[in-house]
Amino acid sequence: MKIAVCPGSFDPVTYGHLDIIRRAAGLFDQVIVAVSVNVDKKSSFTQEERVSLIRQCIADLPNVRVDVVHGLLADYVRQEGACAIVKGLRAVSDFEYEFQMALANKKLNPEAETLFLTTDQKYMYLSSSIVRQIAGFGGDISDFVPPQIAQFVMARFYQPKERESEPNDSK
Ligand code: COA
Repeated sequence: MKIAVCPGSFDPVTYGHLDIIRRAAGLFDQVIVAVSVNVDKKSSFTQEERVSLIRQCIADLPNVRVDVVHGLLADYVRQEGACAIVKGLRAVSDFEYEFQMALANKKLNPEAETLFLTTDQKYMYLSSSIVRQIAGFGGDISDFVPPQIAQFVMARFYQPKERESEPNDSK
């Protein structure tokens, strides 16, 4: 049984992440989407919310499950008996950071490999913070996240301002 872990903060999950998860599900017997903590970022959604949003999107993938990682990813991968960490690479700019993480994880858990899947060109520009930012200004995020996620994200981030009354309004 070959198990892979797809880690990330998924704040929120996007079509880009889902593309990587689906492709990993075709390569491995089992895939665990691991909602993890990035100590350098403050999350906009709780861990429970992020897990629930991902679960709604992967219901049709029988060999994929979602879990939470509280500690080091390398320890979690060992504990689950996984042989690989699968991540998406969007652009050259991702490479340096990902390379450093892959080497650190290899040092911490030499039995696991990090595999990179090149992102679909459609999602090259996509990131969770872009989605949050567009949502915050009331923009259309339907091309970036599935409908149920879009609804949740818009409800959290978009508060349309009431039109300020203008002097002529009462006339
Ligand atoms: N499609 C769309 N967006 C993608 C993407 C894809 N295929 N792959 C990555 N992204 C986006 C993410 O949404 C994220 O966007 P944001 O910065 O706007 O939130 C950004 O690219 C960075 O993603 P990623 O590199 O996966 O970082 P992350 O913060 O989501 O996750 C962890 C990093 C959580 C996996 C890492 O910090 C970790 O392993 N933490 C556990 C603790 C640990 O072991 N630390 C030591 C690691 S060596």
